Amino acid sequence: MDLVRGPAEVRHTALAPIEDYLAELHARVSKLEGGAPADYIPELGKVDPNLFGIAIATVDGQLYSVGDAHIPFTIQSVSKPFMYGYALQHHGRAGVLKRVGVEPTGEAFNSIVLDEAANRPFNPMVNAGAIAVAEMMQGDTQKQRIANMLVLFSSLAGRDLDIDEAVFASELATGHRNRAIAYMMLNTAMIERDPNEVLDLYFRQCSVNVTASDLAIMAATLANDGRNPLTDHAIFDAQYVRDMLTVMNSCGMYDYAGEWAYEVGMPAKSGVSGCIIAVNPGQIGICVYAPPIDTQGNSVRGIRVCQEISNEFQLHAFNNRTNVRSVLRRDYRADLVRSNRLRTLEERTILTKEGRKISVLEAQGALFFGSTEQLLRRLAQLAQDSKYVIIDFKRVHMADASACKLIVRAVRSMAKSSAELVFASIAGDGPLERLTRALAETEEGHRLRQYRDADAALEWCEDQLLAGAGSSVGTKFSVSEINLFKGLTPDECRLVESIIRPLVFDKGDVIMREGDPAKLFFVLARGTVSVEIKVHGKGERRKRVASIGPGLTFGEMALLDGGKRSADVIANERVICYGLGVEELHELSADHPNVMITILSNLTREFSERLRHANEEISVLE
Ligand code: DON
Repeated sequence: MDLVRGPAEVRHTALAPIEDYLAELHARVSKLEGGAPADYIPELGKVDPNLFGIAIATVDGQLYSVGDAHIPFTIQSVSKPFMYGYALQHHGRAGVLKRVGVEPTGEAFNSIVLDEAANRPFNPMVNAGAIAVAEMMQGDTQKQRIANMLVLFSSLAGRDLDIDEAVFASELATGHRNRAIAYMMLNTAMIERDPNEVLDLYFRQCSVNVTASDLAIMAATLANDGRNPLTDHAIFDAQYVRDMLTVMNSCGMYDYAGEWAYEVGMPAKSGVSGCIIAVNPGQIGICVYAPPIDTQGNSVRGIRVCQEISNEFQLHAFNNRTNVRSVLRRDYRADLVRSNRLRTLEERTILTKEGRKISVLEAQGALFFGSTEQLLRRLAQLAQDSKYVIIDFKRVHMADASACKLIVRAVRSMAKSSAELVFASIAGDGPLERLTRALAETEEGHRLRQYRDADAALEWCEDQLLAGAGSSVGTKFSVSEINLFKGLTPDECRLVESIIRPLVFDKGDVIMREGDPAKLFFVLARGTVSVEIKVHGKGERRKRVASIGPGLTFGEMALLDGGKRSADVIANERVICYGLGVEELHELSADHPNVMITILSNLTREFSERLRHANEEISVLE
């Protein structure tokens, strides 16, 4: 095995806090003596004991490395958790538990102890368990099984890996203890196939060539729910990753597992080649490579580095990071914060009075048992004095199975309550896909009102309140009913009617487009329209900034500054509206100045009202 010793690999950019820390840590720990390279596999004894590399990979594929992080070495027992995951993936929990347990032995990795009561090795991290797991590799021929094993490790590293034939041959020639274990297992049918064939695969898996960077990516794959952060390839189901991390946590460091859990607190696995991987779920995978190992088979420098990193960055699994209360982003009522639907003065008056009956509860972050309990307790409080409660999931990025169960139960019980529950922003194909699926499986879930965003949900609830208050949000045909013309005399109304152009648009029609010249402004007589703007720097993505109903105007900027259209206006349904030409209005006002004065003062009042309300909303939402 020829080695190319690399310089301390620190890529210095202006802002490199982690690289800087790793460089300091590497320099400090490289002075730590003690231990010796394993030599019970002679080929391993030939390694340069001063090799020392550290690599950290994040769940989104960022790799930090220092020292000999690119020097190849054989994976040895660090292969075991991944082979265990593969067995779970292909044989399921029950199938694997029949063949290997999950109990720590408290013994050395190559101890010849078997769980005779259950007739299986104690766990898949000790050699006996790993041999049983090796027999579970898929493939009808040994060649296929070896190929499948290499495919597994290559997909975990995100690049093609090979086997160090010299180390393999060396272990094959000296692996008598493992042979003894395998034959004892054959003796009690813990394995069925020829032990030499099973060991052949086991020795080959231990002899796969990797680097510390490869192993950091593999560890980050476990931190990333089984999905390779580099290739985004799903290798293990999240449920099996949990099993792998659990067994790594209790058995991965053999008879040092207790102290490791105490000092470092991350699921880990060591290999006699001098490598250790550690996993912080949801965050990072770490690998340290330094050949000198202690009597328990763990890298001396590897242990120190992981202790330091865990303490420095609070990575211990039992450092409580989840603040369930943070799931409640805020809640408010529709008397103070309304939808983007522009309302007539009459409607606004009703909503200011009745709006408290609509509550909006914004959730955020991760929904799991604790946070969902918080969310539903707040829902219950709001439902006591609300007619409608909207839960907005826009800022929720995951909901686990327990959250889905609790929410489905809440939907079921709310279906019997006086308050109507409305959900917003839970798209079927997004991070809450599991929740939408769970809801769709229940009758109540089917009946539950769901809107693409909180604004649309709020608009619907407002419409219900207004309809309930007898406010006719329907059609406004006569000029005198329309706010913009309030105060005009009947003669002046007739003058305005003389220049009005009735226009009909079908659902989806673009009535006006952002950037177009503005010659007309519009009064809506029937139906509703949406006002949308392009979201800057997000390609074609659009944001609905307002929706307008009968009796209100749009495009009135044309009247005020004559500038280009500042947004698209799209018909939400078949709409009837009146177009008023700016030029015609000016000509008419030349003889009847009170028309323009009235229209402009109504517009100004409307705008100042909107501004006041916007300030109120900001004061509530900030
Ligand atoms: O079976 C063996 O003994 C080696 N191939 C692997 C052992 C190992 O890596 C133990 N880990 N600390």
